[in-house]
Amino acid sequence: MSTLHIIDHPLITHKLTIMRRKETGSKDFRELLNEIAMLMGYEITRDLPLEDVEIETPVSKMTAKTISGKKLAIVPILRAGLGMVDGMLSLVPVAKVGHIGLYRDPETHMPVEYYCKLPFDIEERITVVVDPMLATGGSSSDALTMLKNKGCKTLKLMCLVAAPEGVKKVQEDHPDVDIYCAALDDHLNEHAYIIPGLGDAGDRLFGTK
Ligand code: PRP
Ligand code: URA
Repeated sequence: MSTLHIIDHPLITHKLTIMRRKETGSKDFRELLNEIAMLMGYEITRDLPLEDVEIETPVSKMTAKTISGKKLAIVPILRAGLGMVDGMLSLVPVAKVGHIGLYRDPETHMPVEYYCKLPFDIEERITVVVDPMLATGGSSSDALTMLKNKGCKTLKLMCLVAAPEGVKKVQEDHPDVDIYCAALDDHLNEHAYIIPGLGDAGDRLFGTK
């Protein structure tokens, strides 16, 4: 069974509270999402493998550590996942970025795929799927399946707000994928929105409503 990591650092919790407020506008929402993504990225990259490298400081030779061959890929689920990419890239500037386009059908709430463009060597990379909202889990689960079908072996899922229903679905469908979130909310409403949540992340990020 995969692990759910709730990264409830006070800075993250404080920023998330501002994001949740309905009066917070797109500019602040966007900035805060990137800041939180960077802070969460610090935890997500905690177990990146290191390897020894021989170096010389100005005064001595030494065996130092460097991040080993396995490099990172960040894969946002469009649209709202885009809001977490720059924060992650500011931590790991050499990461490659892929994109998966999925939207939820407003009637059925099922994810519909419309785009997929990934780094050519995605199967060799530790891949972090980013999407602020884990509601029913349909979008994230489908994105993880798409990546596994492309050969990805090491995957993590990073979201901002998760619903218990979404966590359950991803853990059932992908027991090998750890989930990282900043908050585990209460439940989904009849429109599959997270309660209390923060509303429609894509619309709030891009000001489309
Ligand atoms: C939102 C969100 C997730 C999805 C979560 O995207 O960004 O991708 O819903 O819901 P789920 O867990 O029930 O699948 P949306 O479909 O609204 O598309 P958008 O990002 O283009 O607005
Ligand atoms: N997608 C969102 O943007 N918000 C929700 O609460 C659920 C799905």
